[in-house]
Amino acid sequence: MAEQQRVSIHGQWSGRMAFILAATGSAVGLGNIWKFPYITGEHGGGAFVMVYLLCIAAIGIPIMMAEVLLGRRGRQSPINTMATLSAEEGRSPVWKYLGWLGVAAGFLILSYYSVIAGWALSYVFRTASGIFTGADAEAVNKVFTELVSDPERLLAWHTLFMIATMVVVARGVQNGLEKAVRYLMPALFLLLAVLMIYAMSNGHFMEGVEFLFRPDFSKIDANAILIAMGHAFFTLSLGMGAIMVYGSYLPKDTSIAKTSIIIAAADTLVALMAGMVIFPIVFAHGLEPGAGPGLIFKTLPLAFGQMDAGILVGVLFFILLTFAAWSSSISLIEPAVAWLVENRGHTRVYASTVMGFATWAVGLGTVFSFNIASDIKLFDKTFFDLLDYLTANIMLPLGGLFIALFAGWLMAKQSTEDELNSSKRGYNIWRFLVRYITPIAVMMVFLNVIGVIRF
Ligand code: PHE
Repeated sequence: MAEQQRVSIHGQWSGRMAFILAATGSAVGLGNIWKFPYITGEHGGGAFVMVYLLCIAAIGIPIMMAEVLLGRRGRQSPINTMATLSAEEGRSPVWKYLGWLGVAAGFLILSYYSVIAGWALSYVFRTASGIFTGADAEAVNKVFTELVSDPERLLAWHTLFMIATMVVVARGVQNGLEKAVRYLMPALFLLLAVLMIYAMSNGHFMEGVEFLFRPDFSKIDANAILIAMGHAFFTLSLGMGAIMVYGSYLPKDTSIAKTSIIIAAADTLVALMAGMVIFPIVFAHGLEPGAGPGLIFKTLPLAFGQMDAGILVGVLFFILLTFAAWSSSISLIEPAVAWLVENRGHTRVYASTVMGFATWAVGLGTVFSFNIASDIKLFDKTFFDLLDYLTANIMLPLGGLFIALFAGWLMAKQSTEDELNSSKRGYNIWRFLVRYITPIAVMMVFLNVIGVIRF
């Protein structure tokens, strides 16, 4: 069959492990360590976490499998993959716009992601300077406020991070990224374990765990459910083609089901560990769980300031967080760069430079939304909040919904069966989830939030 011989012009992963590392590198990032704790804090804990976990299992994993499947079958950027597969399956060419929706989402997400990654990067140096040693909550808070209220500093860190991202993208994501992720991911994991031990012995650990895992459904509403679902997409890098484009570099004989489950499990574990580190510190210091986007920057330094070798641990932590953000950023822009190379014949270097510059420029909106433009609001949201809401809660789930519909209803059963190549039972479960559960769940959450239905 023709599609069996199709190869990506951008190269291939060296094997299954390389793909798992790269996809985990994409999934594990600011979403797990920065965003998960603060949105969980804002929405009251346990019930929110439960909806999020449910979404990972019932929506996230099936869609991840669908994305990898589409990518590997199409072997091109998501836009061209969708164009090729829709033609092959005898479907309308409009499906390529699903690829465009993803490119737009990735571009918009990266524009603010890079600003936040800049915070993490700047904290490497702040922690190293020793200012957190013995500092109290007020002093730690002040450091954060001073950072975000200074547009010039935010701009500098954002610029630096954006350059770092585009350098890797320009070189091709298979070169170098694999090797970096191989060591950095396990290191991040280990450090989180160390911090958890600290939180157990010095924080209000049980209070934190209870906050995370005891559900109180009166604390969440339709909007919180949408945010929990949106976050499941965001944290697994789904609905915008990042995993699809990584799938297009995947060797033919790898099991898609197994790798997807491993990636989702690793991602979820990191998020829950981050929660179990942060909330015990929050409660031990009488801080506010709903402190917003600054949450980790206002809590973790307190712990670093008090523990033995806190400077070392803190510096290492922010370095690893920056790397985790880096390996995610790369995947946010890869679909766009791959398309520019395929369709416009640009070199990777040129394509990355152009995309990087455009993303950087949109990022200025986020930079200013924390200071000089913090009063400019639409629907009661700043530019950053609006961008985050639009991308994570609307664009990604919408992209995921269409991916599920395409893979579940429009592709021939034979095609998906061939590509997934799993056990009969596994395949049937996947197909059921992707045809019914996933699309219905996403649509119900959307309808619930706009008030058409209530649950
Ligand atoms: N999954 C990444 C994180 O949790 C963010 C991301 C979203 C990356 C979408 C790629 C695509 O930080």
